[in-house]
Amino acid sequence: MPRGHARRGIAPATTSASASVVASGRVIAIFNDQGAYHAIDDLCPHMGASLSAGELHEGIVTCPWHGWRFNVTTGVSPVVSSISVKKYEVKVEGNDVLVAVEER
Ligand code: FES
Repeated sequence: MPRGHARRGIAPATTSASASVVASGRVIAIFNDQGAYHAIDDLCPHMGASLSAGELHEGIVTCPWHGWRFNVTTGVSPVVSSISVKKYEVKVEGNDVLVAVEER
């Protein structure tokens, strides 16, 4: 299984921040939420904005274009539960944040 990864230093462990990486043809948003890392598809299902550019607050990222929101732990919208983005398993190894990505 290919893995995407980002350097752990995308943000200090006590703040919230995000980055996007490409793995196996997918663009994946990685969020550091108060030291806990989460990964979801970066492309918003509404019109394709980058969710990693959105604002993260209390585990919810808000899309920068039209405000759709997603829980970064589950990938599910807290407003409309039938709307979601794919979530990925994340593992921290040293200074690397590894994301499990299925082959296409
Ligand atoms: S592109 Fe994300 S809410 Fe419209």
